[in-house]
Amino acid sequence: MEHTVETLILGAGAAGMMCAAHAGRDTLIIDHAKAPGEKIRISGGGRCNFTNLHAGPGNFISANPHFCKSALSRYTQWDFIDLMARHRIAWHEKTLGQLFCDDKATQVITMLLAEMDQAGAKLWLQTSLVGISHDGSRFSAMLEREGKLRTVSARNLVVATGGKSIPAMGATGQAYDIARQFGHEVTETRPALVPLTFSDNPFAPLSGSSLPARVTTNGTSFDEAVLFTHRGLSGPAILQISSYWREGQAITLDLSPATDLFTLLRDQRQREGRRNLTTELSYHLPGKLVDFLTPQLGLSGNLADQSDARLAQIVDSLTNWSLKPTGSEGYRTAEVTLGGIDTDGLSSRSMMSKTLPGLYFIGEAVDVTGWLGGFNFQWAWSSGWAAGQAI
Ligand code: FDA
Repeated sequence: MEHTVETLILGAGAAGMMCAAHAGRDTLIIDHAKAPGEKIRISGGGRCNFTNLHAGPGNFISANPHFCKSALSRYTQWDFIDLMARHRIAWHEKTLGQLFCDDKATQVITMLLAEMDQAGAKLWLQTSLVGISHDGSRFSAMLEREGKLRTVSARNLVVATGGKSIPAMGATGQAYDIARQFGHEVTETRPALVPLTFSDNPFAPLSGSSLPARVTTNGTSFDEAVLFTHRGLSGPAILQISSYWREGQAITLDLSPATDLFTLLRDQRQREGRRNLTTELSYHLPGKLVDFLTPQLGLSGNLADQSDARLAQIVDSLTNWSLKPTGSEGYRTAEVTLGGIDTDGLSSRSMMSKTLPGLYFIGEAVDVTGWLGGFNFQWAWSSGWAAGQAI
């Protein structure tokens, strides 16, 4: 039995649902999962970091850094905040402009479903795509639903199936296959916003310790918390830098980004010269970390025993700590996929293919990757809205 619609959206995640709420009445959105918006549900520790007050093009990585500008400026964080207000969903700023629901992330899913419903969009869950073709004017999608094959004919096809991160949650990377099938390029994809690992993890004894730090690689730095784990390094600063790090490269940790540690230690030597050096350092760094570094840096004696040159050397080791990760935890735990469908082939205004009218790509599948902090959802809202408006 053939079903005919104006618009078929593949993937009822953040971007797909936003698009369905704006694409017009004759829209069908499908997802192979049992429930829509599963990543929204688990995001932000169950509270969904749904946008960022400071979201702008500078918070995104793409082979073409200008591509995201149009959608982000036409559907902004303020537009999404207005939408939340219309649905009376309370939120708060946690840190660095990151906005979270006061209550539950599922409120955002309920809101998007209500918007879709009001727009007249239909949702088919537990429905997977078997194949897709285009006859020069319409798309024909073979879908499997409730054990039966169904054909859906659509004038517009919106691909919103996300990236490869967290396959256990149904991520397939199928968007890339569809893009290639219709002649689009896909840039190199890799796990991003992901913990970094070290062979024979030297930090295992520090597991659970965290501290604010500045992490740098390839000229990019982030000042946020670093967490030592039983597998290596994690925490917001490490997740952020993972999007810029490449195998074989080093990252540099500054363990005292906000304090002039040298002046502090020198002044303290003046006042309390008999204080043990490691005791003093434990006031500024986690005790376990000081214990870990003591043999490596040869820390010994009282403050009064340390010359200016020695203090400078210690401080340099603590503020320029160069480490070479061996890898990352991969797609198993990565929050997003870096890279994706090449933006060269898409209109930045509508997300439509430049070569096949009616074909759209939105959300994480596209080569636009946000920093940690609500930016990836903002891209999903903005790109989904842009495609919905254009349809
Ligand atoms: P998304 O992955 O949301 O949706 C794709 C949909 O397509 C899914 O519903 C999937 O089931 C479906 N699908 C896939 N393949 C299919 C197929 N072959 N057939 C049918 N359906 C298919 N971002 C942020 O800004 N703030 C945050 O707090 C977080 N937190 C967070 C936590 C965790 C644990 C993860 C993994 C990720 C985040 N993110 C985040 C990132 C954010 O979740 C992500 O960028 C968006 O969900 C991307 O939205 P999309 O709609 O593009 O893909």
